[in-house]
Amino acid sequence: MENSFGMCNFVAELLKMKKQWVLRQATASDLDEMIQLFSDVVSNVNARDYTPEQLKEWLRSSSNTERWQALISEQYVVVAQHGDDLVGFASLTPDAYLDFMYVHKDHQRKGVAQTLYDHLEQQAEETNASKLQSDVSITARPFFERQGFKVVRTNHNQRNKEVLINYRMEKVL
Ligand SMILES: CC(C)(COP(=O)(O)OP(=O)(O)OC[C@H]1O[C@@H](n2cnc3c(N)ncnc32)[C@H](O)[C@@H]1OP(=O)(O)O)[C@@H](O)C(=O)NCCC(=O)NCCS
Repeated sequence: MENSFGMCNFVAELLKMKKQWVLRQATASDLDEMIQLFSDVVSNVNARDYTPEQLKEWLRSSSNTERWQALISEQYVVVAQHGDDLVGFASLTPDAYLDFMYVHKDHQRKGVAQTLYDHLEQQAEETNASKLQSDVSITARPFFERQGFKVVRTNHNQRNKEVLINYRMEKVL
C-alpha cells in the first residue's frame, strides 16, 4: 500500500516538474483574458471562503477599467501562458508590494503560482527590496505561508454592507 502511494506521489511530482506554461510580461492586450480569469477564479475558488454577497462586492472591481489599465502601466505584471491560454498572472509594484496573484480555476495546485511567485521574488531582490508585502485573501493565505510570509494584521475591508477579511502579510528578503 505504502509503495503504491509512494509511486502516485512520484508521478504527481514528475508531472509538476514538467511545467507546461511559460512566463512573459503582460501587455494591455492580455487584459480581457486576465479579467475573465480573475472573475472565474474569484467566483469558483474564493467561493470556498467568502459568501456570495462578499464575492459580489469583490467582483465589482473587475469592472474598474482604470484600475486594470493602471495595473499594466504602473506595475510589473507577469502572465503564465499555456498554449494560447493564460493560466495565471501576478504583479509587483515598484515598492515591492505583491498586488495580484490569480491562477486559473482549472489549473489550481499545479505549481503555477509558485512559478509566478519565484519570478517576482527574484525581481524584488534585484531592486534590493528588504521585504515583500501583500494583502492576502483567506484562500491564498496557506500559499503565502508556504513562501515564508507572516501575518502582520487582519484587515476588515468594508465594501458597502459587506466586510471582507484579508491579511497583511510580509516576508523579509
Ligand atoms: C492562492 C493561489 C494563487 C495558489 O495558486 P496555485 O497555482 O494553486 O498554487 P501552487 O500550486 O503554486 O502551490 C504551491 C504550494 O503552496 C501551498 N498551497 C497552495 N494552495 C494551497 C491551499 N489551498 N492550501 C494549502 N496549501 C496551499 C502548497 O504547499 C503548494 O504546494 P503543493 O501543491 O505541492 O502542496 C490560487 O489558489 C488562487 O488563485 N486562489 C484564488 C485567488 C486568490 O485568492 N488570490 C490571492 C488574492 S490576494
